[in-house]
Amino acid sequence: MERQKFTITGFYDKKRDGKKITMLTAYDYPMARLVDEAGIDSILVGDSLGMVVLGYESTVPVTMDEMIHHSKAVRRATRYAFLIGDMPFMSYQVSKEEAVRNAGRFMKEAGCDAVKLEGGYEVLEVTKAILNAGIPVLGHLGLTPQTISKLGGYRIQGKSAEAAKKILDQALELEKAGCFSIVLECVPDSVAKLITEKLRIPTIGIGAGVNCDGQVLVTNDMVGLFDRFVPKFVKQYVKLSTSISQGIKNFKEEVETSKFPDEKHSFAIKEDELEKLRKK
Ligand code: KIV
Repeated sequence: MERQKFTITGFYDKKRDGKKITMLTAYDYPMARLVDEAGIDSILVGDSLGMVVLGYESTVPVTMDEMIHHSKAVRRATRYAFLIGDMPFMSYQVSKEEAVRNAGRFMKEAGCDAVKLEGGYEVLEVTKAILNAGIPVLGHLGLTPQTISKLGGYRIQGKSAEAAKKILDQALELEKAGCFSIVLECVPDSVAKLITEKLRIPTIGIGAGVNCDGQVLVTNDMVGLFDRFVPKFVKQYVKLSTSISQGIKNFKEEVETSKFPDEKHSFAIKEDELEKLRKK
């Protein structure tokens, strides 16, 4: 059967059928093409962009304009995957109006299919306003990197019964508000399993164990392109940084010893033309 575009109903169908949802991040055209062509269900233009591509210390400095610029490039490469734009810090906290306007930019300017925003109770009204504008919303609970300062560092969330219950209650509120799915980041497996069982909408885990309805990873972590630090939950399926760095060293060495470019990588003109040229 010819591959169909993955739509919002695909999320619900997969949960109903007990099939896993696959999601990866992308920030530019070539990576988005690879992710899309590999058959991944959904691409998230994550604000992890700030750390793995733009070199910021955290996701906090990422701006709307940076997100839109990168989302547009990803859109150009994405034919089948469901495309989600990640709303950066302070693009949805100031007012409902501003949040709706910024969510709208992801849809109108970048051609996204949905937006994601971090938080529970504190973003409930904003989430409803965005949904009322006809924009699908992916929730994000557990470790929420934009508020890392408030959380006191990158650490597992929901370790006590009370903290886990708070995540569950917020997940139920986000579901009630109309979110189509929720990312659970860095929560214990058993807590993620319980939340997944209680929700009708699918959960997408990152550092939340195998029982979520789907999994997401930051692609640059997963392919070994970003190794400033590698979180415990990241599995590196390949280590691209090693091969890229070897290739660069080989290039340097071959240029410095005049091995590159060789005949195979150069252009020639016919001998008689060369002769004429020499006589000019
Ligand atoms: O920004 C991001 O890449 C994310 C994922 C880790 C879920 O939010």
